Amino acid sequence: MTERIVKSTKETPQISDKIVVNDQAKREIMNRYEMRFIASKQFAERARRVLPAGVTHDLRTFNPFPVYMDRALGSHKWDVGGNEFIDYWSGHGAMLLGHSNPKVLEAVARQLPRATHVGGSHELEIEWAEGVSRLVPSAERVRFTGSGTEATIMAIRLARIFTGRNKILKFAGHFHGWHDAVSPGSDPPYDQPSVPGIPPEVQKYTVIIPPNRPDLVEEQLRQDSDIACVILEPTGGHWGAVPIRGEFLKTLRELTIKYGNLLIFDEVITGFRVSPGGAQGYYQVKPDLTSMAKILAGGLPGGGVAGREDVLAFIENRPGKAKMRHPGTYNGNPVSAAAGIAALKQIENGEVCARANSLALLLRNRLNEEFALHGFPWIAYSDFSMFRLLPNYHGPRPVKATSDNNGMIPYEGDLHLLDGPKDSSLIQTFRQALMLQGVDMPGLGGWLTTAHSEADIEQTIQAVIHVLDELYSN
Ligand SMILES: Cc1ncc(COP(=O)(O)O)c(C=O)c1O
Repeated sequence: MTERIVKSTKETPQISDKIVVNDQAKREIMNRYEMRFIASKQFAERARRVLPAGVTHDLRTFNPFPVYMDRALGSHKWDVGGNEFIDYWSGHGAMLLGHSNPKVLEAVARQLPRATHVGGSHELEIEWAEGVSRLVPSAERVRFTGSGTEATIMAIRLARIFTGRNKILKFAGHFHGWHDAVSPGSDPPYDQPSVPGIPPEVQKYTVIIPPNRPDLVEEQLRQDSDIACVILEPTGGHWGAVPIRGEFLKTLRELTIKYGNLLIFDEVITGFRVSPGGAQGYYQVKPDLTSMAKILAGGLPGGGVAGREDVLAFIENRPGKAKMRHPGTYNGNPVSAAAGIAALKQIENGEVCARANSLALLLRNRLNEEFALHGFPWIAYSDFSMFRLLPNYHGPRPVKATSDNNGMIPYEGDLHLLDGPKDSSLIQTFRQALMLQGVDMPGLGGWLTTAHSEADIEQTIQAVIHVLDELYSN
């Protein structure tokens, strides 16, 4: 049962009154942002002289300048001017345990004076891989890499060697890092998936179809015998912008077995977050290979591929068999390993994931309650410990979600409405205004951690409603 927000009771404001964002408010917010975060401005000017766009990651590009962060603890962080924020970037999703988790810090501190790089094998890499194998159902073998991007490079190359096929099948809006094979189709416009710097001949090896369409998957796999693997973010592209749930994963497993392709779950975000065993652990669907990073290394740099022994065996030197070369200076770095082991140990019994999931559920439900109460045309959605906000939403209102993955999916999961071109000016103003209220989100959404509290959530809701009041005031 769903209920439309556009109803004319005295208590509930009409949404139609609140469609147009006030431009004057936008300008005022920008002015206040410049004044409040003035301490960051000088850093931004210095940065622009040496760093393209003044930043080191596309997502951190911000107008008129980004806020420069100084330190972080638990769910909060502070900028160079002493301003405090509730943080929903959560280290791009890496800090499931919150910032400066004492056990991770202790493990890193123990390792630092011993060696930051031994230039050889060490015990921690074994313990780290043993931890992954215990938690991740499909992890018969593990190979560490320097990042999530390197992990998907490896998974795809292994799939090509193992199957003797060349192409990959991926889904529009699914992000797997920034290398050539996976960049096409990760951002809109999805119908012209041309990426500057990647030769068209190379892009031909990447087949892109919309998510949640088993019929199209089967059609592609049936007609193209050169597809080596199907790769996806198992809870949906861009960490759940268009949510994917268990049924689709099960169908992918069946289809890839039927057509002889490898199934790769890119669990760089969902690994150790959705459940200790990631999305595969939760949904009980075993991929052939899994790419991992972020939480894997406890918030330090690192990544890895886990999966079938007979597939990862192609990294080994075996007479008469192809060998996938895999060097990498920072593979299995001991400091990252120490942090990763400390993180995985805390995640293993499931309480951490359950806590972060329940906080996100609370946040999504409470936001939807308040949006309806105030008549704002916004909706909060997504699954597990992630949340997404969708502005200018005019569909049915959601009923309260009762589990980590039974919330309403807006527009029945329409790719273009949920993950199409964005109103970057609105997003920028929203983020500026939210930072003025002491909340920092990486766009319209973010990641919960175990360090967030119910008080953080209430404060965030008040901040969001305050910002929308400003934006929609006339
Ligand atoms: C699902 C997914 N795969 C791969 C990557 C790339 O990981 P990294 O940034 O460590 O290269 C990311 C990064 O956000 C990601 O979200």
